[in-house]
Amino acid sequence: MELIVARNREDLVKARRGGTVALVPTMGALHEGHRSLIRQARVRADQVVVSIFVNPLQFGPNEDFSRYPRTFDADLDVCRAEGVEVVFHPSADDMYPPDRQVAVSSGEMGRVVEGAARPGHFDGVLTVVLKLFNLVQPDLAVFGQKDAQQLALIRRMVADLDLPIEILGAPTVREPDGLALSSRNRYLSEDDRQVALALSRALRAGAAQLTPDEIRAEARKLLDAAGPALDLDYLALVDPATFGEVDDDFEGLAVLAVAARVGSTRLIDNVTLTLG
Ligand code: PAJ
Repeated sequence: MELIVARNREDLVKARRGGTVALVPTMGALHEGHRSLIRQARVRADQVVVSIFVNPLQFGPNEDFSRYPRTFDADLDVCRAEGVEVVFHPSADDMYPPDRQVAVSSGEMGRVVEGAARPGHFDGVLTVVLKLFNLVQPDLAVFGQKDAQQLALIRRMVADLDLPIEILGAPTVREPDGLALSSRNRYLSEDDRQVALALSRALRAGAAQLTPDEIRAEARKLLDAAGPALDLDYLALVDPATFGEVDDDFEGLAVLAVAARVGSTRLIDNVTLTLG
């Protein structure tokens, strides 16, 4: 079947078929991580919609919006190969007319950890995701655990705003050496790439420890070992329900999350572990 490229709500309505619709929101530059989300959607849905939109609202003034990779033709080939029915590719002008006023607020949970490092980021993410939900009207949507706080906040938005959409989380896809796939990895030099391995290495070593203090200390040791080429933004051991730091007697699933700059590229990664 021919892949349909929809540019606006009208195109989406025309492309609609009966049955279960799954949405996979992306910013393009599709890689194996995105493909695994599409495959998970494929298993559950009669119609898979992939949105490709580099959302200006979620980038800070000094972030990489203008140099974010845009590879639309290659992305269409990926979507065809994965049997996607519809690619939704709106323009920024259509998504954000100049007279817009109302946006989603991500609350306290959007201001900690990654949200503290990127003020306003999660408000921008939730606003675009809610718009995509309303435009596409999917039954379910798939997001990666790679962006753990984003996934948690989307679940929170669905619960708090009573959205009739099922959210599926998908495991992080990694290179054989452990590096989490990211559209931004293409900006790493060979040397940067070696330094970047410290992130996944530190998370693995941390997750093998028992107590919160040991977990943080072991992970930090491996991040420090990478030397000054790795500029650590944060290392956090948090409750996945709130993204607040866990205390010593915390029991249950926790997320060990890291963000660091390597060269000019900012990378994030996380693992889930069990405490207690
Ligand atoms: P983007 O970075 O393109 O990611 C799209 C989806 O792919 C997200 O759900 C993300 O968690 C997932 N993903 C990225 N790398 C992955 C990996 N290595 N393994 C598994 N999944 C991975 O996240 C965004 O776009 C945007 O914030 C968006 C939700 C589209 C809103 O603009």
